[in-house]
Amino acid sequence: MNTEKSNRLFNEAKKIIPGGVNSPVRAFKAVGGNPLFIKKGEGSKIYDVDDNEYIEYIGSWGPHLFGHNPPFIKEALLKEIENGTSFGAPTELEVKMAKLITELVPSIEMVRMVNSGTEATMSAVRTARGYTGKEKFIKFEGCYHGHADYFLIKAGSGALTLGIPTSPGVTKGNAADTLLADYNDIESVKELIAKNKNEIAAIIIEPVAGNMGVVPANPEFLREIRNICDEERIVLIFDEVMTGFRVSKGGAQELYGIKPDLTTFGKIIGGGLPVGAFGGRKEIMEMIAPSGSIYQAGTLSGNPLAMAAGYAALNYIKDHPDTYSLLEEKASYLEKGIKENLKSINKNYALNRVGSMMTLFFVEEEVRDYKTAVKSNTVTFGKYFSEMLKRGIYLAPAQFEAAFISTAHSNEDLDRTIKAQSEALRLL
Ligand SMILES: Cc1ncc(COP(=O)(O)O)c(C=O)c1O
Repeated sequence: MNTEKSNRLFNEAKKIIPGGVNSPVRAFKAVGGNPLFIKKGEGSKIYDVDDNEYIEYIGSWGPHLFGHNPPFIKEALLKEIENGTSFGAPTELEVKMAKLITELVPSIEMVRMVNSGTEATMSAVRTARGYTGKEKFIKFEGCYHGHADYFLIKAGSGALTLGIPTSPGVTKGNAADTLLADYNDIESVKELIAKNKNEIAAIIIEPVAGNMGVVPANPEFLREIRNICDEERIVLIFDEVMTGFRVSKGGAQELYGIKPDLTTFGKIIGGGLPVGAFGGRKEIMEMIAPSGSIYQAGTLSGNPLAMAAGYAALNYIKDHPDTYSLLEEKASYLEKGIKENLKSINKNYALNRVGSMMTLFFVEEEVRDYKTAVKSNTVTFGKYFSEMLKRGIYLAPAQFEAAFISTAHSNEDLDRTIKAQSEALRLL
């Protein structure tokens, strides 16, 4: 594999961009080697600057439910750009987008658009605090909710991968209001609530964790959290930045039949452009400025290009309800192939999957929370990643991430992936 141009660009980038990348896990630090510089994506494939082709399972870390550059999103963008790129004033598209979101996700009665998942989660927590008049909130070890200070405490994703789950720069004051519970462990939640009676504004959770690798929540665990929130007047926030429009049309809340008070979105909702959103019960959302006094704002929020791409993506989902059965078919085919490969080498590695999100952990026991996820052998993962890449299969360059299957992955792509995996596993 010739990666000369990528290497050259990385060396240049390192001089002028911290670590050579604009988001940490892109740097291949956890798997060794240099990152590839990508010039093009089409369907299930991406192409680097040295013209190598890869079948890839990152999908820009989640947004590309339909693969790269689907024609209907491209057309929507080309049409919209004719009118201008930003006005900082309301547009009709924002109203259409809000209507569509409230239609697809019944718990959302009102929604505010923002520019990233991080903005969505930090705004949701502020809203919960403003609404309840309380300051503390509970998050779960290994869950990632973006990089706002008070979330970077035992966080997942790149923070976990790079060994900095609690970042320098987060003040003691900020950390003090973040309470940590164990995923899938209701007793740990009850304990925190008992110790911090009437002080907890919100519980924020990834209803399917994707940032310690894929770890599904036990539905009973989520139901108990819902009940506790009702009893204690705590705002339940489902962080569906990753799972929203991914695990089903209405997200994980539809899959499990549990209604959160607030929900955060990102990734798919922007159709590949920088978008986030948070929404939920009208009574809470109406407290946001300018209808209420909880301040939240954004120069580019509801940007017409971002709305055009996101609206095209969500409309496609609405018009094609078979999207999720198609994804399930593809993902379960891949899962079956991987399980057969593991059996053939007598390994019982944990393979977690919810719909089109999947993670293979290099540990032979159930992975159900942060503590079991971090038992995975990350050195073996690094070798596995490299062997897959050599065979033209591009996985997320970190163990504690999800692989995303898109509707663009063909049967041939999946068969090639299973074959490459069989070879890679034998070399570990
Ligand atoms: C569940 C979850 N919440 C929040 C975020 C932060 O989103 P963004 O990277 O768009 O700020 C992410 C990003 O991966 C995420 O997976």
